[in-house]
Amino acid sequence: MNKIRLGFIGAGALAATLSVAFKQNGFNVTAVSSRGFESAKTLAKRLDGCRSAADNQEVADNSDLVFIATPDDVIPVVASQVRWRKGQMVIHCSGADPVDILTPAKKAGSQTGVFHPLQTFAAGLEENLKGITFAVEAEEPLLAQLKEMAGVLGGHWIELKSKDRILYHTAAVFACNYLVTLTDIAAGLWESIDVPRDKAVAALLPLMRGTINNIESIGVTESLTGPIARGDSGTVRKHLAALDNIDPKTAKLYRELGSNTIPIAVEKGKLNKSQAKVLQQMLKQPGCKK
Ligand SMILES: NC(=O)c1ccc[n+]([C@@H]2O[C@H](COP(=O)([O-])OP(=O)(O)OC[C@H]3O[C@@H](n4cnc5c(N)ncnc54)[C@H](OP(=O)(O)O)[C@@H]3O)[C@@H](O)[C@H]2O)c1
Repeated sequence: MNKIRLGFIGAGALAATLSVAFKQNGFNVTAVSSRGFESAKTLAKRLDGCRSAADNQEVADNSDLVFIATPDDVIPVVASQVRWRKGQMVIHCSGADPVDILTPAKKAGSQTGVFHPLQTFAAGLEENLKGITFAVEAEEPLLAQLKEMAGVLGGHWIELKSKDRILYHTAAVFACNYLVTLTDIAAGLWESIDVPRDKAVAALLPLMRGTINNIESIGVTESLTGPIARGDSGTVRKHLAALDNIDPKTAKLYRELGSNTIPIAVEKGKLNKSQAKVLQQMLKQPGCKK
């Protein structure tokens, strides 16, 4: 399998991480292109034997398996502009988009598929690929190939149908992107009590890591702590009063998240039905600024 020549159209966060990881695992990465030329040139320098291609066609012409690693909206454009070969493998890495955005490549006789790493590549760390799940979709024999490639990178695979991709990806947005949003909100609240943002984030990180470690070792339900898990409605009331006063938008979000937290606390067995009802009513009441 490592004899397959890999090409990357797009040289951004995902392409840089995947191409380097494949190279480290003995794959031959032959060509990379980008919208401008600079990012492709920079990436190619990290990949011994790889050329920075002048255009996307050059990548397709010099690879057996082509990753279209552009922003999602650009994938269909690239798929329709390039002249694909019969038997060539063409895949995209979008979590939300179906395989059939690659139909022009399929019509040209290529095998098409999706290889979505369930990971975030903002910091471009190849080791972040270990143990992750790749959602793969293709017809055989490409499907078997993509599963094997996930294994080579130290990951697992799940098969995902195009019709299920949107909800799958929505879940990823909750677990990843909105974690960033929640961190930003938490740090912002500390800023309002004069703790600088970098200090706030540094202090909040061990708390977040501890929570993730707990989820990993004892599961989601058992990991819930805090006022809702304990039934401390007085504390929740004080939180709401403070937020209503300084930031009604965040107060609204607190109410939504709190409501979603009550069933977890009930399942954990620390919150009885009447405590849950009191909390639910409190969280349902709209805020009013004093
Ligand atoms: N980033 C993640 O954490 C992540 C995780 C899982 C899946 N994905 C998926 O991976 C794909 C790429 O995302 P990304 O985050 O790596 O994007 P990105 O960092 O914005 O990089 C996009 C790359 O595409 C290039 N590009 C744009 N238009 C092009 C065109 N017409 N022809 C050739 N290259 C073009 C850009 O060139 P320039 O460098 O010249 O601008 C850039 O190198 C997306 O489908 C995304 O859904 C991303």
